[in-house]
Amino acid sequence: MTYSPDAGAGQGSPGGPAADSNRTRRRGRFVELLVAMVAIAGELDLSVVLQRVVDLAAEQIGARYGALGVRGTDGRLEHFVWTGIDAEQAARIGPSPDGHGLLGEPRRRSAPLRIDDVGRHPAAAGFPPHHPPMRSFVGVPIGDGRRTLGSLYLADRRDGRPFDSDDESLLALFAAAASIALLNARRYETSREQERWLAANYRLTHHLLAGTDPDSQLTTIIRTARRLTDADFAVVFHVDQTREHMVIRTADGVEAESTLGRVLPMDASRAGDVFRSGTPVVVADMWEDTRRAPWLSETLPPVGPCALVPLGLADDALGVVMVSRLRGRSPFPAVALRMLETFASQAAVALRLARERTWREQVALYADRERIAHDLHDQVIQRVFATGMLLQGTARMVVLPEVQERLLRAVGDLDETVRQIRATIYQLEEPPAGTVEDVRSALLSVTDQAADALGFAPIVRFDLSPDVELPVRLREHLVAAVRELLANVARHARAGRADVELAVGAGRLALTVADNGVGLPAGGRRSGLRNLAERALSLGGEMTAAARADGGTVVVWQVPLHA
Ligand SMILES: Nc1ncnc2c1ncn2[C@@H]1O[C@H](COP(=O)(O)OP(=O)(O)OP(=O)(O)O)[C@@H](O)[C@H]1O
Ligand SMILES: [Mg+2]
Repeated sequence: MTYSPDAGAGQGSPGGPAADSNRTRRRGRFVELLVAMVAIAGELDLSVVLQRVVDLAAEQIGARYGALGVRGTDGRLEHFVWTGIDAEQAARIGPSPDGHGLLGEPRRRSAPLRIDDVGRHPAAAGFPPHHPPMRSFVGVPIGDGRRTLGSLYLADRRDGRPFDSDDESLLALFAAAASIALLNARRYETSREQERWLAANYRLTHHLLAGTDPDSQLTTIIRTARRLTDADFAVVFHVDQTREHMVIRTADGVEAESTLGRVLPMDASRAGDVFRSGTPVVVADMWEDTRRAPWLSETLPPVGPCALVPLGLADDALGVVMVSRLRGRSPFPAVALRMLETFASQAAVALRLARERTWREQVALYADRERIAHDLHDQVIQRVFATGMLLQGTARMVVLPEVQERLLRAVGDLDETVRQIRATIYQLEEPPAGTVEDVRSALLSVTDQAADALGFAPIVRFDLSPDVELPVRLREHLVAAVRELLANVARHARAGRADVELAVGAGRLALTVADNGVGLPAGGRRSGLRNLAERALSLGGEMTAAARADGGTVVVWQVPLHA
């Protein structure tokens, strides 16, 4: 193969001395070229490799200018390196080429391109200001055999002649070196990425099994997913009880707060599709998507590229996780989607395990209480009772009134003890006090049910320490209060938003229900509200209901935890 621009055909005769010296020169350059290629292959940093490729190509082929552009899977220019133009001049020329003109040709056509005079070529888009004039041009695609990744091109042969087919073949060699380096770099990136996800998965599982409260568990899950996918915003869509809607109860990132409580119809949303089919989806721009959920139009954040995966295994998902980037950013690559999917299904398993463990611990606790109650009843009471009978019998036989009186007093004490034990047994056998998880799920099921009548899901917030216990009695009052207050919002308030907050601490429980509707009229008939106020009073607490200064109504219902 001849590759040197000045090693034109027909110089000297085969076998003659001229041919010999030609061969020696070629061999010398061939060795030079090999050394250069090996140096390229030994370099790990991709941008250094690409720069070397373009420098060497220009040097070896004898061109004044050279450039190399690589596009990512999303079509954006990922790398652009050049030679022959210094940084200052490049800055004056402005941004890298967009690939619409001549420079994109080899990539678009996946074929080499050779031009004697750039200015006269029909695909030429013209030079930007401050760009040096260029005449001859040769460009080849960089590809992996299946796809074209970019192109490598040279301009202005130093000897002023046009590039020939030898130049083109040699340039193709450099392009091959670049494509190997690119593929290696991408493989390396992928394995690094997998490593990061694995490590995150491990940490997350650890965190979930350490038994933190469920809200923070979900937040941790999506925060991790958001960071790993370099997203701006992440949410969990929960399935409501009717299975017709999905509700946002956990969000993280840009404007996360404002999306809490948003409801999506299961039938007309991407999240619904993903939940029903169990199949993950990437959307290049949610804003333009035909299955864009209605809540997106009226609220921030302005999400563009999105990736949605089921939280859990296909037919047993707890909801759907979505990570999003703001509009205008590049879409999520397929690799990220696959990793996100694995991550979410493992997170769901860990979540379930954690919840099941809490539940088991509770069951064990209740079983223990029941056993103690039985022991007290069957053994302790019987013995105390028998001792009492014995004393009473003895008292009748005693002559001294003083002693008799003492014995009878002891019998009275024993009776009282039996009564106290009975009361303890009763308490032990009474349904146990609600744990935080019971209260939470009881309230959430009421607010879920109310969503239909309201036309939106109330935003629910809990301010509970995990070890707090609510007597069952109180839980029932609480559920009744939330139900009535949300019914009022639905029937009277004409509101677009309702906030339910339950705070338990310092021996008190406070339920606040606020809406942004027409406001509670002063005076007037009270029925459901009066009933709630009376309940609060009977428990030693109070209720206040008032119009808010900035519109809407706020009702606070509070009682002591242990009346
Ligand atoms: N969130 C609210 N926003 C605006 N007005 C309200 C709100 N809650 C109650 N009201 C007004 O206060 C009145 C009294 O409410 P209350 O719950 O006591 O009775 P009700 O809802 O009318 O009847 P019931 O509760 O017996 O079904 C309502 O009729 C309504 O006019
Ligand atoms: Mg009412």
